[in-house]
Amino acid sequence: VVLPSPPPALYPSFYSPGPKDILPDLKFPKGFIFGVDTAAYQVEGATKEEGKGPSIWDWVSRQPGAIADNSTADVVDLHYYLYKEDIARIAALGVNTHSFSISWPRIFPFGTADSPVNQQGLDHYADVIDSHLKANITPVVTLFHWDTPLALEVYYGGFTSPNITDDFLNYAKTVFTAYNGSVHTWYTFNEPRVFCGQVGSYPFNLTYAPGVNISTAPYQCSYNLLKAHAGAVKAFREMKITGEIAFKSDDYIGIPWRANSTDDVAAVERHAAFQIGVFADPVFTTGDWPQILKDTLSPEYLPRLTEEEQKDILGTADFFAIDAYRTFYIAAPPDGLSVCINNSSHPDWPTCNLETQYDSNAGWAVGPAADPLSDWLQATPQFLRDSFSEYHRRWPSPKIYFSEFGFAEPFEGVRTPPEIYHITEDVDRTNYYMTYLGELLLSIHEDGIPVQGAFAWAMLDNAEWNSGLSSRFGIQFVNYSTPTLERTYKRSAFALSEFFKAHLQD
Ligand code: NOJ
Repeated sequence: VVLPSPPPALYPSFYSPGPKDILPDLKFPKGFIFGVDTAAYQVEGATKEEGKGPSIWDWVSRQPGAIADNSTADVVDLHYYLYKEDIARIAALGVNTHSFSISWPRIFPFGTADSPVNQQGLDHYADVIDSHLKANITPVVTLFHWDTPLALEVYYGGFTSPNITDDFLNYAKTVFTAYNGSVHTWYTFNEPRVFCGQVGSYPFNLTYAPGVNISTAPYQCSYNLLKAHAGAVKAFREMKITGEIAFKSDDYIGIPWRANSTDDVAAVERHAAFQIGVFADPVFTTGDWPQILKDTLSPEYLPRLTEEEQKDILGTADFFAIDAYRTFYIAAPPDGLSVCINNSSHPDWPTCNLETQYDSNAGWAVGPAADPLSDWLQATPQFLRDSFSEYHRRWPSPKIYFSEFGFAEPFEGVRTPPEIYHITEDVDRTNYYMTYLGELLLSIHEDGIPVQGAFAWAMLDNAEWNSGLSSRFGIQFVNYSTPTLERTYKRSAFALSEFFKAHLQD
């Protein structure tokens, strides 16, 4: 792939001044990762090929009305077959790392530990990993990015059942053994809170094994998933797999709407506990659920962790990985501005404005500041430094990866203002990346935060869960109307390439 000459450098107009590099002398630390992300379900396609079993999302995407544009991910980017081309295209941009996930049902089509392993699946990812290494792109592997083998959902309710921990452990060990030495950085789970509470199978009313009470599902899932994570990390260490392992957390710590209101500050704390804290507190600081959760939820909803379980869980991450797309102001009720206070499956389970808007595509817009009175979620580069300082203060770790950040635009559908309908001239996304990366440099240099990598979501347009193809996060446009699924770099891809060229050290 020959990289076309990039369009002139563009720097944000709404936030930083002028069309020039405003921080020319600041470099990222040596060895810094310039990464892009994907996830198996969202890019691979080939859902029934080479022995793959169905995942819960293959099922969900076939339910009428479940996906905004009624698309399935059966073909999507066909990255399963086009990975070599995709690797060449990111190599041409100077990307040095690709974070992707392995599809569990490709390795264990029937999910369970006593079911056959699909050798074709193992061979496939061996070649994927090898192809990255040959192109000097470091592969970062996530074991679970939400695509539970459907069989396990049908047999016993997936992550609502304690059976999942053994089956996950067996899958994890199989993959560790297969790729030990070729992969250095591993994630067990992607955004477990989102999976268990919002984007997982549980809101979709999959067929549950008898006796599973759906209203308890989010926390049963959290409990089993946390134990599955700890079990896999323990095995990783016992097996002396070389490298580092953690999980990827979503999302943000809010900002008190009225800085001197103790109610708003308390709402921020509650929010942090119910979001990042659900998994980060046990793993990084206490071994146990945040106190606010235990005070709020009876053991019927939130299974308590025994002392032994707490010991097994504490310390099961070698670094802190955060998918930090943006942040929000949070105000306490009764202003009606508070996020995360509504009922979903249980009165105490927080659902957020965030998720509603996420599904409706209205979010992810760029704006001058986060404003709880606005209908739109907004990019908030001006809060990035504070956010990273908070992550580091609350969940200390020797190393932080900014494991996902990105910006979506709708591809079709009604949305104002109309000027955001541009596709490859993605000025808003470009602004988003430039401002975030500028702030990230300041966070590293001014605040001393040990960030060692930044990963753009996403390498290319893909299946955005229940938004399907109608919401596009890619730094490359995919033309789904062409038989070759033609990829085109967007302006943001060039801008990222230029920015990292200017700020990475040899
Ligand atoms: C987080 C998830 O990990 C990813 O799968 C998703 O597409 C992006 N954020 C954007 O919503």
